[in-house]
Amino acid sequence: MKKYLVIGNPIEHSLSPKLHNYWIKENNIDAIYDKKKLDISELENLINEVREKKINGINVTVPFKKTIIPFMDELSLESKTTQSVNTVYMNNNKIIGHNTDILGFTNAIKKINYDFSNKIILILGAGGVVPSLIYALKKFNASKIIITNRTKQKAIDLKNLFSNIEIINWGNSINFDVIINATSIGLNQEDKIDFNFSKVGKNKLFYDVIYNPEETNFLKMGKSLGNLIENGKYMFLYQALSAFNLWHSTNINLDENSIKLLSK
Ligand code: ATR
Repeated sequence: MKKYLVIGNPIEHSLSPKLHNYWIKENNIDAIYDKKKLDISELENLINEVREKKINGINVTVPFKKTIIPFMDELSLESKTTQSVNTVYMNNNKIIGHNTDILGFTNAIKKINYDFSNKIILILGAGGVVPSLIYALKKFNASKIIITNRTKQKAIDLKNLFSNIEIINWGNSINFDVIINATSIGLNQEDKIDFNFSKVGKNKLFYDVIYNPEETNFLKMGKSLGNLIENGKYMFLYQALSAFNLWHSTNINLDENSIKLLSK
């Protein structure tokens, strides 16, 4: 039986096992997908288990997407460019680090048919998922990508990966077509982003990477001002699906049942 894992810290709330085990069963694959809370000091041993084929694949979440990189033999172009790994597997006896968050976001945007070309995008946050968003947005030909983060230095560090992003101070307002919440503000229902939305206007896109709760205060605000809103549910689903298809050499699509697995 093949063994797969999602690692992170915390990890209790991860819905990846639910999804992957559903697809494993549906496709009659002899495998199991587990979750494991990890300390950074355990990363090396875990990767050795992949090398010894005791583990066949790993999904990586906060806070290890970057710290796992030194243990990889090779990175895909996506992982190299974003310095972010969320999917690990063996190929030709080499440990490969790959990033399916990019395709997750790309497919989620294709699903809502939103045209990013020539749009000004404001991203709130500079954490682990942001390089993947920028990578995808550049492919969509966004005209300008502006980053704002409470800790400005982390936004400045992103310029090492993507030189033509712009940075503004946290709390400053600016004109945009799309605003993306990539902070963890909103994971608790009562969380509120300290941002002045009064001059935002309508017919913009408010996108939240968070999908639980389904409608953060950020999305509620966007909606009440007359904007289009979208949460991170499909990004999460599509990144998982992409890892599944890569590991199992399948080509399955999202069905209604897997979407329902993420609903409470
Ligand atoms: P990491 O920063 O370790 O990659 P993350 O969950 O990927 O973790 O990112 C959390 C993001 O939410 C960061 O951009 C963080 O801002 P800082 O870099 O300043 O920490 C942001 N964030 C979390 N709580 C916040 C708050 N109360 N106000 C503003 N930004 C917040």
